[in-house]
Amino acid sequence: MKSSFILIVILSLLGTYVKAQTPWVVPDDRKGLLAPLKFSDETRKLGQEVFNKTCVSCHGHPGQPDQAKLVPAPKDPASKEYQQNLDGEFFYKITEGRGLMPSFKKMLKSEDIWNVISYVRTFNKEYVQKVGAADSSSGITGKLLSKLDYLIKDNKIEVKVIQQSNKMPVIGVKLSLYAKRNFGWLPLDEMRISNASGKLTFNYPKDLPGDKVGDVNIKVNMANADGTERTIIDTIIKTEIKCSQYNLLDNRAMWNVRSKAPIWLMLSYCGSVLAAWGVIFYIIWILLQIRNKGAKV
Ligand code: HEC
Repeated sequence: MKSSFILIVILSLLGTYVKAQTPWVVPDDRKGLLAPLKFSDETRKLGQEVFNKTCVSCHGHPGQPDQAKLVPAPKDPASKEYQQNLDGEFFYKITEGRGLMPSFKKMLKSEDIWNVISYVRTFNKEYVQKVGAADSSSGITGKLLSKLDYLIKDNKIEVKVIQQSNKMPVIGVKLSLYAKRNFGWLPLDEMRISNASGKLTFNYPKDLPGDKVGDVNIKVNMANADGTERTIIDTIIKTEIKCSQYNLLDNRAMWNVRSKAPIWLMLSYCGSVLAAWGVIFYIIWILLQIRNKGAKV
């Protein structure tokens, strides 16, 4: 009787022990993820707000023993065990969640998650940040972006942005989608921001006409830190919607280039130039006649 009681106690303790200690393994390709921006007083302040709203109820105040009594226990963010995570591990654990730790993928934007990470790092005196796709001064630089895949299906265009150097996804780049029309570029969807896997999806209008064979020239622009845009994809995509309508720039028209101006416009222009010169010569001829008549008198 006594021994089975001891066994039960040992087993239940073992149970909690195993549960609490199961290491939370982050896949290798996610570990090395770095924040796209340098942490600053501003990111720390924004992160503190997020932390106090969304994390404090379980993880308590950093450095104070007021964590929620859960199994496994939510760690104190100021503790060594918590801080030994790499930035990429933090990002993975916060986005994906496990057990009682909620997944914040849908609740927080990736900027917010990086802000929280920048805040909790203030409780680690040894921490030195490694910055990912961008540095503090120039925002996200083009050199690091190399590959952009698009695929059009279900009227979605998916773009993936990865870093050239280490093939890591680039998070937080702002991209806009345009289609070429007769007189410029038509914005097709609102600006989208790449997610944790460097991906973003645009809605592609299903009734957008292509040319005679259904081709549409699209481009994707990336927003620079200073608000300007830079084209990073300019490509032709194949769609089903063919358009037999002639190109507005194919024929002679008022809005076309000089060699394709309407005939009547060219004739009336030449006519009025000739008429103006005619009047000038007529006046000169009359003046000459007046002078000749005066000389005779
Ligand atoms: C509902 C309670 C709860 C909330 C809210 C919560 N967590 Fe957690 N968190 C947990 C639990 C429980 C664990 C332990 C999970 C495990 O090990 O299986 C955990 C684990 C973690 C870990 C992994 C630590 C390690 O062991 O490596 C991180 C990082 C973390 N939480 C960050 C956050 C952040 C940031 C927020 C706010 C955005 C947050 N958590 C909100 C309960 C919570």
